[in-house]
Amino acid sequence: MVSEPRETAVPHRPKGEPRFPEGPAPDPAGSHFERRIRSFQPRRSRVTPGQGDALRRLWGTWGLDIDGQRVLDLGAMFGGLPVVLEIGFGMGEATAQMAADDPSTGILAVDVHTPGQGNLLSLAEKAGLSNVRVANGDAIILLREMLAPDALDGVRVYFPDPWPKKRHHKRRLIQPEFLGLVATRMRPGAVLHCATDWEPYAEQMLEVLTAHPAFENTVPDGGYAPRPGFRPLTRFEGQGLDNGHVVHDLLFRRV
Ligand SMILES: C[S@@+](CC[C@H](N)C(=O)[O-])C[C@H]1O[C@@H](n2cnc3c(N)ncnc32)[C@H](O)[C@@H]1O
Repeated sequence: MVSEPRETAVPHRPKGEPRFPEGPAPDPAGSHFERRIRSFQPRRSRVTPGQGDALRRLWGTWGLDIDGQRVLDLGAMFGGLPVVLEIGFGMGEATAQMAADDPSTGILAVDVHTPGQGNLLSLAEKAGLSNVRVANGDAIILLREMLAPDALDGVRVYFPDPWPKKRHHKRRLIQPEFLGLVATRMRPGAVLHCATDWEPYAEQMLEVLTAHPAFENTVPDGGYAPRPGFRPLTRFEGQGLDNGHVVHDLLFRRV
């Protein structure tokens, strides 16, 4: 009899035992910092053998759980490099590319998606990158509890979940409350860079960013920015383009 190839590298484990004992925690902040409205959906997707191997070997060095229990010393973590936060890196291909293209900038990349965390660790190792850290958990808790005022030299939010249904709009990340929080963690002059292929979300982003007193548009006449050369095509962007969507970039400076 020919057996099917194994779908994951994860061996059978007794109920309740963590999937990656030395890897990312399943719920790093627990219920203590639970947010009622989350901008992400728990996804149960498979971890490939390569991703699982990267999580087991590399998490202890390059990963961190967002437990909300300490303020990070980004200077020590990144050897004094300016640090940009990327929220929602997905599978991390664009993140690894940007880190390789600009080794003089540190990227603190956050997502809740375990296969993506493994993928980014693996890509970073293959490319010999030392300027990427992978954070596991909710970016809001990271910003609120674990980053000091003015800690960030930039923030990137590429193709955040569009939450198209009206009753889900409250889950969208780019809202006045989020902007108020993120602004306090960005140094003056730092740029918040958003991109989306979902037209109504792009309009919402433009509206709330333009109205927010802590940000000013880098485009002198207002409106969307040309896509900057440093942003690679992302996986979700590719899917959007395949569906005929138009992509908008927004670059707003912290005043
Ligand atoms: C639509 S995907 C885009 C991924 C990637 N930027 C791309 O363009 O291919 C959005 C990602 O954001 C993550 N995400 C959403 N809200 C988040 C939050 N509050 N903290 C961390 N990750 C979040 C999701 O898990 C998901 O992987």
